[in-house]
Order: sequence, then structure tokens, then C-alpha cells
Amino acid sequence: MKVMVVGSGGREHALAARIASSKRVTEVLCAPGNGGTAGIATNLAVDPLDVQAIVAAARAREIDLVVVGPEAPLVAGLVDALTDVGVVAFGPGAEAAKLEGSKALSKRFMHRHGIPTAPFAVFDDADEAQAYARDRGGPLVVKADGLAAGKGVVVAKGPEEAIEAIDRIMRNRAFGAAGQRVVLESCLVGQEVSYHVVLDGERFVPLAAAQDHKRVGDGDTGPNTGGMGAYSPPPVVTPDVERRIVEQVVQPTVRGLISDGIEFRGVLFIGLMIVDGDPHVIEYNVRFGDPEAQVLMARYGGDVVDLFEGAARGDLSAVKPSWLAPAAMCVVMAAPGYPGSYPKGHPIVGVEHAEASEGVTVQHAGTRLSDDQLLTAGGRVLGVTGVGASVQEAAKRAYAGVEMISFEGAQFRRDIGHHALRPS
Ligand code: AMP
Ligand code: GLY
Repeated sequence: MKVMVVGSGGREHALAARIASSKRVTEVLCAPGNGGTAGIATNLAVDPLDVQAIVAAARAREIDLVVVGPEAPLVAGLVDALTDVGVVAFGPGAEAAKLEGSKALSKRFMHRHGIPTAPFAVFDDADEAQAYARDRGGPLVVKADGLAAGKGVVVAKGPEEAIEAIDRIMRNRAFGAAGQRVVLESCLVGQEVSYHVVLDGERFVPLAAAQDHKRVGDGDTGPNTGGMGAYSPPPVVTPDVERRIVEQVVQPTVRGLISDGIEFRGVLFIGLMIVDGDPHVIEYNVRFGDPEAQVLMARYGGDVVDLFEGAARGDLSAVKPSWLAPAAMCVVMAAPGYPGSYPKGHPIVGVEHAEASEGVTVQHAGTRLSDDQLLTAGGRVLGVTGVGASVQEAAKRAYAGVEMISFEGAQFRRDIGHHALRPS
């Protein structure tokens, strides 16, 4: 079969690589892909947000399954448009994608279905939101309602900071229309993890827990990024905590979707704060995390095409997840200056060398090929993923791979997995 992956990051390279290794697959196409997917798939120069162009490409190339990586095309209705013309697609339709596209909607969903989450209030008016922040006092989390590329959340230490964040989001429209409405919620203190589940509209297949590292610097310092690394499994998710996640969060979420009449076929990324062993939902994302996908794809034992196609067709009854690698870790190598402005076009060396090491794969994010020379082309440039019998072994392999790769000014965190490797 022919499979098309939509997106251009490390997540999409990881998905495309596992899809390409399926015995069922004869051809993989990426729209638009990157310098890494070029080696395993045909890259098509199509914008993921140009719904009609993606639909036209999928039809022209007689694609049997489309796997959508990022949230924006899902929220824009790409899967609905593909389904309308009979193309099977993995990912939720626009209605279900609102779980990520509107934080107010997702908080109300959690509240309605008794899913544990921080207490919250929703405001359409900046004056009212600021009065609430002032009256309430103490730390408060301010969230722009709409999509803001992961940047629309401010964890304010007190009312002053919250008031300033509300100004920026609602009055100055730092995130455009995403800031028409804000959610204010209590601050939770604990360890943050994610739990991914694949849904077919009725059933779910749980994937493993993972933990990413959003801050740019070691010791979780500096500005937030898209994610500087991830690993799985995080030790805070003990078998007992995982059971609570499934019983208190996953099952009521799936039941809630069904009872609200929302058909969700795709992967749901549940962002959780584990507070004294109890899971609280921070957010839903309607796609794989990046770099969480890199570690989940490295660990998954079965044929991922069975998983994605089963979900897309609405029948996961035959899919049982199995885990090939007990642990995996992905370390992101980023351009100097990221997440601020950064240079592009620097030569990258050593990727083949790293990939020749046992248990190491490299996922390209911001790269491009120019006359066979690999160049940097984005903020997050590469992810180096190691697998192993333990998080320790996966880390050793991932970091050995990182040491073999270089480009000018490359930055990476040296402490990915610190909660597992150096528990405090
Ligand atoms: P979100 O986009 O909702 O995932 O929020 C971005 C980040 O803000 C999360 O990954 C958390 O680190 C932090 N965050 C969000 N909500 C809360 C909360 N209620 N308490 C503490 N931290 C939070
Ligand atoms: N790594 C976090 C995310 O993909 O949202």
C-alpha cells in the first residue's frame, strides 16, 4: 500500500521511517517532509495547511492511507476533506481536533466528564479576567484559548504577572485570534508526563508514558521550546499510576467523546501532571508529541500501519500493542539561538556514523539536502534516539550518537531523562 505522511518535523520522520519498514507498504510519500525523509520517501512540495492541495496529491498518487502529523491541518479540517473524497486518513476531524484547538472547550469537556484537572475559569473580557486574577491572588496559569504553537501559556507566580500576561494575550493579541478568550487555572505542582492513546472512535490502544523536556537549558532553565528531548518510560508512572491514568483519565475521556457524539480516530496525547501519584490533565493534544513520537516509534513492537489504519478505519479490535524496546531516549540537537532567532544553511556531518551505531537512529527535523550536502534548515535540527534495556542504556546510546554529529553552534541538553537517571 501507499502511505502519505503530512508534516515536516522529527515526528514525521519517525512516523515515516516506521511506516516504511512495514511489510505492507510499497511506497511512502511525505508532504512536504525534510532532508531525512528524502532518504526513505518521496517528498512532495505541498503545504500541510493547503487542504485542497493535500487532497489533490493524495488522489493523484492513489494514496491508501494518509497519516497527519501536526495539529494545524487537523484543526483546519484536513481529515474531513480527505474522508469526504474517500481517502482513508489517520487523525481526528476538525470537530474532535477542537480538544486541542480550544483550551476552554477541552477544560469544559474534562469538567463535564469528571476527568481530574486543575480548577479553572473562562473569560472573554480582559477586565473581568484581570479582576479575577487580582481577587484570587497567588500563582495562576494563564492560557490563550486557541492554537499558539505551544507558546500561549504563562505560569504566573502572582497576580501582577497574570495581569501582564492577560494584557499581552487579550489586549495586544500576541497570539492573534487565539487570545480572544483566556482560561485561568490553578497551578499544579508535580511531575509532567504524557500518555498517548490511539482511538478508533470506540476502542483505545494505550501507548507508553513519556516525558519531554520543554525548557532549552539544563536543569529545566531558560525559555520554553517545542521540546529538547524525551524518553520513555518515566519512572514516576509506576504500574499503579498507569492504572490510575487509564481508569481516571483515559476511560472517562473515551466515554465522554462517545457520549458527546465526537468521533475521534487518531492519537490523543494526554498531557498530565502527576501530583502525589494522582494524574491531572493539563491538556489534550490531538496528535503525537514531538519528540515523544520519536521515542514511542522506537519502542513500538508491532506494525504501526496496522495501528494507524485500524484507527482510521474505525476498527482496532485486532491490534494489541507490543513493545520492542524496554526504553528509548531522544536528544534534540538545535541550532544556536533557538528558540530565538538562529542561522540556517550550516553543513551537518556525522549522521551516517551515528546511525551505524547499535540501537541509534537519527530523525531529521530542520534539515535540507543541497547537492547531497546535508544543511541545517530549522531551529530543532535533529533528534538522536537511542533504545535499550533501560533508560540508562538508551541515554548512553543517544548521547554517544550526539557526540558523533556536528554542525556550527549545535546546542543540546545534557540532562535528558534526569528524573530517571538522577532522581532527586
Ligand atoms: P499547555 O499548552 O496547556 O500544555 O501548557 C504548557 C505548559 O504549561 C505545560 O506543559 C505545563 O508545563 C504548564 N502548565 C499548564 N497548565 C498548568 C497547570 N495547571 N499547572 C502547572 N503548570 C501548567
Ligand atoms: N513535545 C510536546 C508537544 O509535542 O506538544
